[in-house]
Amino acid sequence: MVSNFRGIKPLLLATLLLVLFACSKAPTPYTWPLPDYVPKPVVPKDNPMTEESVLLGKTLFFDTALSGNNTLSCSSCHAPEYAFAEPKPVSIGAAGDALNRNALALVNVAYNATFTWAHNNLESIEKQIMIPLFNEHPIEMGVTGNEQQILARLNTPVYQQLFEQAYSTKAPTMDAVVKALANYVRSLVSFNSAFDDYAYAGNDDALTAQQIEGLNLFFSERTECFHCHGGVNFTQSSKHSFQAFAVQPFHNTGLYNEDGKGSYPASDMGLYSVSHNKKDMGKFRAPTLRNIALTAPYMHDGSIGSLEEVVEFYARGGNKANELNPYRSPFIKGFSLSESEKAALVAFLNSLTDEKFLKTHNRHKN
Ligand code: HEC
Ligand code: HEC
Repeated sequence: MVSNFRGIKPLLLATLLLVLFACSKAPTPYTWPLPDYVPKPVVPKDNPMTEESVLLGKTLFFDTALSGNNTLSCSSCHAPEYAFAEPKPVSIGAAGDALNRNALALVNVAYNATFTWAHNNLESIEKQIMIPLFNEHPIEMGVTGNEQQILARLNTPVYQQLFEQAYSTKAPTMDAVVKALANYVRSLVSFNSAFDDYAYAGNDDALTAQQIEGLNLFFSERTECFHCHGGVNFTQSSKHSFQAFAVQPFHNTGLYNEDGKGSYPASDMGLYSVSHNKKDMGKFRAPTLRNIALTAPYMHDGSIGSLEEVVEFYARGGNKANELNPYRSPFIKGFSLSESEKAALVAFLNSLTDEKFLKTHNRHKN
């Protein structure tokens, strides 16, 4: 008997070593699918981008197991078909609570200097993700109080392997869940629209004559669009590896003027609701306009239904433009465009849709 065991020992040892080797295999650094003209986003030092963490994050993103009552996934409100936004004016949480805001498209979030429609003190995607997971007023995914149950749901052989490969822990932890989700969100980069083909790859045929007319209007002093939706990501609020400091401006577009003195509805006063500084009344982040054709309805509360109506809104200089409004940005001053110019501006916005992004990030492919 004893000698039999001796024969088996080296084999056992070899197997053990092999298993150890397989387990300690370092995660693969993530390859950013970015064109040359786009700088890499800044990634937190304690959560490096790896292929394995992005895969784990993707699997979690589409899984209802992450909500307390197992009904809602991140993708319920951020659906890939709509560039990770949703067609409802405002989102509905797992317990049926209506949120006061429209789901933001998750497009180039990695480049945002600030997160959500209006917050100047949420400095990482990791922190932002805690909100839908743990928020109680209103409940979004309803994780609070259900943490152990959710981690137990994730304790399957498939997840154990994904967690092990990404974060060297077989047992799922909330810390690893949040980190993996953040890395998946960071991987949602979109720079392959017809506009990019025209503007950066030098393909003169990529845009129609009407879209080029719209492009010129967008970047003109007549409409002022580019002042707030500027740069490679069509938002001024950005941060990337070529830039020493993050820029985080917020603007009041004159969407509301409740009292003829510029105030916004009490349910959502934008940055003012966070800072309580009067000058921040009604200020919101100008979101990226990439893939904008897919993310209707528009604005922080989904109150504008179509791009045509957005253009009309800016053309009249915001809502109640004739009433006093000390908060409205001086760049929102109204303009007059002919019907065909308005159509050209919308045609240009449509050229910012990235078909390759939609194909790469459809919900079925892993
Ligand atoms: C009930 C709908 C809902 C669910 C579920 C949801 N979100 Fe959101 N998400 C929103 C809304 C609404 C906003 C805008 C919030 C705001 O401005 O205050 C948002 C904003 C975000 C942002 C900020 C994007 C930016 O550009 O600043 C990120 C990142 C995000 N969500 C990721 C996630 C992840 C990851 C999950 C899953 C853990 C998730 N969301 C689940 C509705 C939802
Ligand atoms: C003063 C800065 C500013 C200017 C100028 C400006 N925008 Fe905006 N834009 C914003 C802000 C801020 C928001 C979000 C407002 C809100 O949700 O209340 C926004 C929202 C939008 C949205 C909706 C985005 C979404 O995801 O729902 C579109 C589309 C848009 N702008 C297009 C344009 C066009 C086209 C022009 C030029 C005609 C323009 N913007 C000019 C700041 C600006």
